[in-house]
Amino acid sequence: MMSMPARYAVIGNPVAHSKSPEIHAWFAAQTGQQLSYERLLAPLDGFERTVREFIAAGGCGANVTVPFKLEAHALATELSPRARAAGAVNTLSFSDGRIAGDNTDGAGLVTDITVNAGVPVRGKRVLLLGAGGAARGVLLPLLSEQPTELVIANRTVDKAHELAAAFRAGGGAGGCEIRGCGYGELQGRFDMVINATSASLDAELPPVDAASFADNAFAYDMMYGREPTVFLRFAAQCGAQCRDGLGMLIEQAAESFRIWRGVRPPTAELFEKLRG
Ligand code: ATR
Repeated sequence: MMSMPARYAVIGNPVAHSKSPEIHAWFAAQTGQQLSYERLLAPLDGFERTVREFIAAGGCGANVTVPFKLEAHALATELSPRARAAGAVNTLSFSDGRIAGDNTDGAGLVTDITVNAGVPVRGKRVLLLGAGGAARGVLLPLLSEQPTELVIANRTVDKAHELAAAFRAGGGAGGCEIRGCGYGELQGRFDMVINATSASLDAELPPVDAASFADNAFAYDMMYGREPTVFLRFAAQCGAQCRDGLGMLIEQAAESFRIWRGVRPPTAELFEKLRG
């Protein structure tokens, strides 16, 4: 008897630009898994309805993208610790009426930095730029790597303070010293500078000073594009080793695939393919 391949989707608005169908089709081919993966455009006021219809139609899981990650968090009937810490969900799994929510963004970032780039976070002084959803989404996995210090700098200073305080209070910081500040208050030099602001989307540079980069610092922009972002061009001028967010995109997808299928797909070749 022929069985239907398991059905997955990415749900967003807009969603036409999403590379996820291409990425998951490639993972499926590499691992010999039978599945389909589609794009679902949800109306801005219709995220929950779209999810429930997809479940009713036999959907097994979904990735969730802008602007629905908070709604996905609210809709989930159970949450992983990292999704709870992120306050946002990018991976849903459906079974027996349950909706499990996870967040693979931080794991994607950490894998790309520590495995693909081969740069340890442990023992480093890390500067995280931005205190919005993208920053919050990666904090727990980043702190789990045990940097010695993590400073969150944000244009709206209160948000940096609140985010740092939330993770101190939640015990997520472990032995790491975590604090928030404004760009003008930054002191000392950092081994790793991670841009989690949305400034690159507007071709803007977060107002970080060249003096914040240690010698041979590592700079990461969670955004990526055909050309290096303004932030990465600046970081390169500061002598930093630079990496954009393409690897994070691929690794967060690989982690979602692992959650759904129990197999971790290979990623290195896909990185070359998408870069090309
Ligand atoms: P996301 O989900 O992408 O994190 P967000 O929650 O709207 O989106 O957060 C955007 C982040 O980028 C914020 O930290 C924002 O700073 P403010 O909190 O002060 O608004 C930051 N950001 C956006 N544009 C920026 C710019 N030009 N310079 C510095 N920070 C910027």
